[in-house]
Amino acid sequence: MTHMVLEVKESLEERCNQILRNMEASLTARDRVGIQDFVLLDPHTSESAFLDNLRKRFHENLIYTYIGTLLVSVNPYKELDIYSKKQMDTYMGVNFFELPPHIYALADNVFRTMQSEFNNHFILISGESGAGKTEASKKILQFYAVSCPSTKLLNNVRDRLLLSNPVLEAFGNAKTLKNDNSSRFGKYMDIQFDHQGGAVGGHILSYLLEKSRVVHQNHGERNFHIFYQLVEGGEEDLLRWLGLERNCKNYRYLVQGDCAKVSSINDKSDWKTVRKALSVIEFSESDTEHLFGIIASVLHLGNIKFDVDARGYATLNNNQEICWGFLIRLKPKQRSPFSVDHAVYARDALAKAIYGRTFNWLVNKINESLANKDSSRKTVIGLLDIYGFEVFSVNSFEQFCINYCNEKLQQLFIELTLKSEQEEYEMEGIEWEPVPYFNNKIICDLVEEKFRGIISLLDEECLRPGEATDITFLEKMEEKIGGHPHFVTHKLGDQKTRKTLDRGDFRLLHYAGEVTYCSDLLDYYSFPVIFKVMRQSKNAIIKHCFPSTEPDSKRRPETVVTQFKSSLVGLTEILMSKEPWYVRCIKPNEAKQPGHFNDVLVRHQVKYLGLMEHLRVRRAGFAYRRKYEIFLQRYKPLCPDTWPNWKGTAAEGVQLLIKHLGYKPDEYKMGRTKIFIRHPRTLFATEDAFQVCKHKLATRIQAKYKGFRVKEDYLKQREAATKIENCWRGLMARKEREKRAWAVKVIKKFIKGFMTRNEPACIDNSEYLAYVRQNYLTRLKENLPKTVLQKDSWLTPPPIMQEVAQLLKKIYIRHMVRKYVRGITPQRKAQVKSTFTCHLCLLFLFFSDLCVRPPQYSVPVVKYDRNGFRPRLRQLIFTQQAAYLVEEAKIKQRIDYSSLRGVSVSNLSDNFLILHVTCDDINKKGDLVLQCDYLFEALTKLSIIVNNQNCIKVVQGSVRFDIQPGREGFVDFKSGQESMVYRAKNGHLMVVTTQCGEMLL
Ligand SMILES: Nc1ncnc2c1ncn2[C@@H]1O[C@H](COP(=O)(O)OP(=O)(O)O)[C@@H](O)[C@H]1O
Ligand SMILES: [Mg+2]
Repeated sequence: MTHMVLEVKESLEERCNQILRNMEASLTARDRVGIQDFVLLDPHTSESAFLDNLRKRFHENLIYTYIGTLLVSVNPYKELDIYSKKQMDTYMGVNFFELPPHIYALADNVFRTMQSEFNNHFILISGESGAGKTEASKKILQFYAVSCPSTKLLNNVRDRLLLSNPVLEAFGNAKTLKNDNSSRFGKYMDIQFDHQGGAVGGHILSYLLEKSRVVHQNHGERNFHIFYQLVEGGEEDLLRWLGLERNCKNYRYLVQGDCAKVSSINDKSDWKTVRKALSVIEFSESDTEHLFGIIASVLHLGNIKFDVDARGYATLNNNQEICWGFLIRLKPKQRSPFSVDHAVYARDALAKAIYGRTFNWLVNKINESLANKDSSRKTVIGLLDIYGFEVFSVNSFEQFCINYCNEKLQQLFIELTLKSEQEEYEMEGIEWEPVPYFNNKIICDLVEEKFRGIISLLDEECLRPGEATDITFLEKMEEKIGGHPHFVTHKLGDQKTRKTLDRGDFRLLHYAGEVTYCSDLLDYYSFPVIFKVMRQSKNAIIKHCFPSTEPDSKRRPETVVTQFKSSLVGLTEILMSKEPWYVRCIKPNEAKQPGHFNDVLVRHQVKYLGLMEHLRVRRAGFAYRRKYEIFLQRYKPLCPDTWPNWKGTAAEGVQLLIKHLGYKPDEYKMGRTKIFIRHPRTLFATEDAFQVCKHKLATRIQAKYKGFRVKEDYLKQREAATKIENCWRGLMARKEREKRAWAVKVIKKFIKGFMTRNEPACIDNSEYLAYVRQNYLTRLKENLPKTVLQKDSWLTPPPIMQEVAQLLKKIYIRHMVRKYVRGITPQRKAQVKSTFTCHLCLLFLFFSDLCVRPPQYSVPVVKYDRNGFRPRLRQLIFTQQAAYLVEEAKIKQRIDYSSLRGVSVSNLSDNFLILHVTCDDINKKGDLVLQCDYLFEALTKLSIIVNNQNCIKVVQGSVRFDIQPGREGFVDFKSGQESMVYRAKNGHLMVVTTQCGEMLL
């Protein structure tokens, strides 16, 4: 274990070095512009230094910078090549500071923290309208779509998560002065992950859609995208059915901003995307039919005009009502109970209500398709992309809500970072220099406080008996909250203020700046009368959106703003239960221009986003903290004292653990219940060490398990091997035994033969005597006297060879004498040359073949191999019983005369003879093809011995013979210019002779 810890320590150091090397390597010169993490900013309290760094990096298209784990993003207003699949791969599984800052790094870190700690997270994306929040949230979603494990089922969920975006954007986004694709609703999206990290489902919460946009757009702004998409991109049939013309100008609700066409927006292609997306997120034909029916009906509704009848009531003056009525399956009455003004007001209220409720229906419908039915525990990552703080020249109720929402989120940010951070240090007893920051709680209270807050006052005003107007509401506010430092009206303001403030307006000093609102907030309470009518609609969506169970006028209705307030409380609760991560988006200029960095604008955002304070807290603070128990539980395998079980308190365990890991004193602090780690890199190094260690532990456990499994196999194999070995050994031992027995037998026999060597030949000594004979003959062959004169130097024979030795001596002398005394004719030369060896052969043959009689005749021959007909020099010997073909002292073939079928010779003088034998044994040799210089002599001798003169056959041309039993060969004879023997192409042995004389026997 100690050894393992040492290894881990080493690998930890190595890892740290590697991280540093990676950091170096991954930074190109361009990436080194400024600093990547504001925590390293010097001086960290300087706003100008902060701004300089942002600007420098922005001009190098380095739009991301960290403050610890918070990501600051500056909208580049141009496409950057940093969102490719390759980039995603690069950022997957890599620690924060190993690569240049990126939204993918943040997304990946959130995901991995969720995986390892199995808890819930959310990413709060904030910034003012047009700062890049929605783009950031899309990038994060895309990253998860690519980086998470995928299966067919998961891909399905992934596609729906991704495609829910274009649909929601079509219905909920619009072109504003700030942003061509401004989200006009707040969106909180949960992505649910299973324990393996697969995205298995999702859920969307939407917040207050800016419905006023349906009926009114400021100059330079548009209605929601979907209207333009339908009119521009809708198929001919569809438009005809909806009674629409392909011209936005014809619809009052589309042209008030006077900018139906925008160069940055392609409504036609967006329409196609939406259509496709709708089918992926499971919208049926009838759903889409009803949905577009509603969109078209809103457009028709906008075109309805009213006349006054005699009694002052509004009547319809054109037939648009037929259209919208038809589309939402409603039969409108021709006459209304309203005055014309009232009727117009009611018409718009209806359009807004229809659109707003349809939007909610849409979100629910998308949620149905994203819902994960599996009830096993999931972890979630929430993405909050909510409308940013915004200020227009005229700010109405919706801006009020939007900015209130931003106040709430800022409050949450403060709660979760600045305030809680500092409170935590205090609670944990960690020395701390408090960082001052502006707490916007005072503004939140101004808006939402019970009984005194603006929302309460508004509620009261809307619901009190008697007529409520903008003026009565304003007066009420002046009366109740007039003294509030963040609230001012014309009446309450000083001279300077009065110049910029109309009488009917009021101004709030938000954390992000001053905003002047017109006090027509009273619009926003329900309009029960017209909703009753809607309940009769046959359009399924409308029916669903205006249920008959809706609380009617009998109950005190909730104003829209109160509903919104409650929904924000709900959102805060959702967020507070999760681990927060932040992306702070900054808008570099108001003109949506790439490359323009407006210092004043950015400085303002840096200020109100609280980035400087955040940096200060970060700088002084600790990047990571965890309860001792949790920290110990995770990292205890890294220290031999804490692994596998620690008996003491968690704090003591952690102390031992970090001592073992070599944490330096300034890198951490021990709180009352938590450990605080100053730099992320310390934690990352620890985590890396843990991963190595975990891997090793896993390998050990795995090895143990495998060992257990393998052992069984091994035992079986060993048993089998032992068996085989035993068998083999037995077999070998048996062979050895047999060999020994045989040797003993042979030796015994030899000894017996030796002992009886002088007795007459019998079974006991026959082998021994044969051996003695052969031995003597072999030695004799080697030791023959060189000359006749040396006759005394004859090898002394053993007793049984006395006679034979005498005989041999005689023959030998005769040969030698012949050679020297008589002289030798050239024809006999070959025979003489074979000298004595030949006779020795005969003798050898005689003894070994146990021939009783000596050989009758011997003659040298050339024997032709059966295969390939190669010539070999041999001795042909006839005894009384058989003919022998001998090579030196070796019998090559024995032919019993009884098996001699005949002899073939050719009619030419080629000296060839073929001995035909009967042979049934396939392994025995076949017929003999020989050439003999003493053909006549040899044939005469043979015919005498076998006593059969007819055995010789003279053939002409060709003779067939048996190479071996069953395999035939041929010898072809012919006369020619030159004597030759060769193997012809046809495989026959070709014998060519020069003499033509025929042989006669
Ligand atoms: N990372 C980015 N890269 C390129 N363009 C961007 C990026 N972020 C934002 N933009 C541009 O800015 C516009 C506004 O961004 P958006 O995310 O809609 O702002 P917000 O949601 O904060 O109001 C986008 O339509 C896009 O043109
Ligand atoms: Mg947006």
